[in-house]
Amino acid sequence: MADNPSTSFRTGKILLSGVKPTGRPHVGNYFGAMKQFVELQHDYETYIFIADLHALTTMQNRQELEESTVGVLLDYMAIGLDPKNVTIFKQSDIPQVTELAWIFNCLTTMPYLMRAHAFKDAEAKNKEINVGLFDYPVLMAADILIQNTDVVPVGQDQKQHIEIARDIAEKFNNAYGETFKLPEPLILENVATVPGTDGRKMSKSYDNTIPLFASDEEIEKAVMGIVTDSGSEVPTNVYAIHSLFRNKNDLEVIYTENKGQYKKLKELLIDDLKNFIKPLREKRQALEEDKSAVLEVLKEGGKVARERAEKKMEKVRELVGLKLY
Ligand code: TYM
Repeated sequence: MADNPSTSFRTGKILLSGVKPTGRPHVGNYFGAMKQFVELQHDYETYIFIADLHALTTMQNRQELEESTVGVLLDYMAIGLDPKNVTIFKQSDIPQVTELAWIFNCLTTMPYLMRAHAFKDAEAKNKEINVGLFDYPVLMAADILIQNTDVVPVGQDQKQHIEIARDIAEKFNNAYGETFKLPEPLILENVATVPGTDGRKMSKSYDNTIPLFASDEEIEKAVMGIVTDSGSEVPTNVYAIHSLFRNKNDLEVIYTENKGQYKKLKELLIDDLKNFIKPLREKRQALEEDKSAVLEVLKEGGKVARERAEKKMEKVRELVGLKLY
């Protein structure tokens, strides 16, 4: 960490975001959010975490959770998050977050949370919804607000969660006095919702992903499986994913030269994906050789984030009437 973060970063502002360790991150996570973490790490005082408590809402398997958590840590470092600039930590190392979430729970009504998209979607699918899943946005508000966050780079699907965090901050501030900053989402328009191999939003739950660290075989299989609309000259779903890797002019040339040749166009996308992923995969493999060094980064980041959170919570406890001595 820099000695005096508030003056060492260009904007003087705080950036925070996270990824849930439920399996392997995909190209949609990367372009929608993770790439921004890397690009902005010099401009903001940056806090990037692994949302392992959020993962518990859908994952009840110790080994899977441990593996995914270490996996996301390796992914973060392989894409270029530098622990010298960024505090990397895991959510469960900051118990103050769950404490704050409880205080927020007591300010948040059930009907308000029932309007959240994620809850409504789960309900529409008749899924059994645990209390943790229902409360998901409140825990997320605590993640964000406890670190005095200014900006939160995310994909479109998290926009409502940032709005909820703002609402909760306002509620607290109204009840107890100015305490929390209102965070802003940072969503890049052209990658707000990266499509998957079937044209819907790329998502693990749709089984339409291209993993960010896919092997060559996985890349081939995923791309060959992209759903193409027969009849049109440009395979829309191939083009949409291809546009993540090449600019419009390049694509214009490629898609004009190979008009109607879906297989060829898919092969060209495979080449681009392989070239993009290979160095990332190699960096990740190298990091994996020394897992204990990588885990040390997480442990140290946890200390830094926890100290900040504790400072904030001391103030919160006092304001709400929990601190008597
Ligand atoms: P998660 O793990 O589902 O996704 C990580 C990030 O990837 C973005 N994303 C996408 N962006 C564009 N196109 C897509 N197809 C796509 N799929 C996923 C997500 O928007 C997200 O930014 N709730 C969060 C984790 C979290 C968090 C936080 C984030 C917990 N607390 C506080 C920010 C701040 C989540 O499950 O993301």
